[in-house]
Amino acid sequence: MTILVTGGAGFIGGNFVLDWISGQQETLVNLDALTYAGNLETLRSLEGNPQHIFIKGDIGDRELLGALLDTHRPRAVINFAAESHVDRSIHGPGDFIQTNVVGTFNLLESVRGYWQSLPDTEKAAFRFLHVSTDEVYGTLATDAPAFTETHAYEPNSPYSASKAASDHLVRAWHHTYGLPVLTTNCSNNYGPYHFPEKLIPLVILNALAGKPLPIYGDGQQIRDWLFVKDHCSAIRRVLEAGTPGETYNVGGWNEKANLDVVKTICALLDEMKPRQDGKPYTEQITFVTDRPGHDRRYAIDARKLERELGWKPAETFESGIRKTVAWYLENSEWTDNVTSGAYRSWLEKHYG
Ligand code: NAD
Ligand code: DAU
Repeated sequence: MTILVTGGAGFIGGNFVLDWISGQQETLVNLDALTYAGNLETLRSLEGNPQHIFIKGDIGDRELLGALLDTHRPRAVINFAAESHVDRSIHGPGDFIQTNVVGTFNLLESVRGYWQSLPDTEKAAFRFLHVSTDEVYGTLATDAPAFTETHAYEPNSPYSASKAASDHLVRAWHHTYGLPVLTTNCSNNYGPYHFPEKLIPLVILNALAGKPLPIYGDGQQIRDWLFVKDHCSAIRRVLEAGTPGETYNVGGWNEKANLDVVKTICALLDEMKPRQDGKPYTEQITFVTDRPGHDRRYAIDARKLERELGWKPAETFESGIRKTVAWYLENSEWTDNVTSGAYRSWLEKHYG
């Protein structure tokens, strides 16, 4: 038995691949274009492991996809591959349309051709799981109930609009062609191997480097945070027992304002790696210009996944963020490797 994962050298895909290989015998084919966000350093422990087959390539390359599907005959495809950073989508939306919309379309078409050629029993058992985001639902007022799976799609950034478009394609490939698809819409992840353009790893690394900790606007925007290993366990559960054509919200029940998240990280660093001058890391907090179109609040209602498939997160925010800060302190080699020249020029372009 084999599964095909796309984007498995990125943050969530990489954690998924590592957990999958440590948890079962099944072969995993990992297709990743290795953009700036994809890093084989994350998968270094799998070097020489025959259970992991890495292929560098694009989800939009139908010839490659056709060959991979015919050769490896996976029982499932899990699509993590995407451009994932909201700020980058504001600076340059083109790559987001290309990968998240056109790429997903090409992937769906390749998978449909393969799936239609399968014998009936394999065809019935096959699954295409699309990993999506809570950002497709738009923003919430402070007192509004959390997003359920039936909330209207109201994406506000080029990133979330491109993910919303991909979700619609996945839905249509089920309703029109019968492809057995599953979609997960998850809240903000954090944890090991998180590329340091995103808030939590950026703040940890900037704090340790003595740099400013940039807070957009007033810092009162709210996100629901989920430890990445919990997202991976939710995806495994949906793959195993989800109903084709259904969507499942995944969240951590951890709504936090950005400023509080940053202060929590500062307090953990004060405890685990105090500044040499004895001052608190909060002194480095700097308020900067807000993100254009910045969504004020996300909150996920994950009760469907709990009720129907029995999934719950294992970590609280307090336990997960402690593990995350400790991981970054212990893995400076990984961060040194991923913070290349390209990363430094992004910081220069975005923060000045
Ligand atoms: P990431 O940016 O860390 O990783 C994306 C991976 O996809 C990289 O390895 C990259 O090389 C690869 N990739 C990009 N374009 C590709 C292409 N055209 N063909 C093949 N590979 C390509 O992203 P992430 O944070 O790990 O997110 C993974 C998925 O989960 C995305 O679909 C994202 O929308 C979704 N998601 C992310 C979060 C989050 O908090 N990070 C939350 C909910 C959903
Ligand atoms: O909600 C799920 C989404 O979470 C995923 O779909 C995206 O792929 C993922 O990147 C993430 O999007 P966000 O925009 O919420 O994540 P980011 O880490 O970029 O920002 C988190 C919050 O912190 C957001 O309100 C913006 C703010 N922020 C971010 C950065 C990078 C700052 O205040 N300062 C910063 O420097």
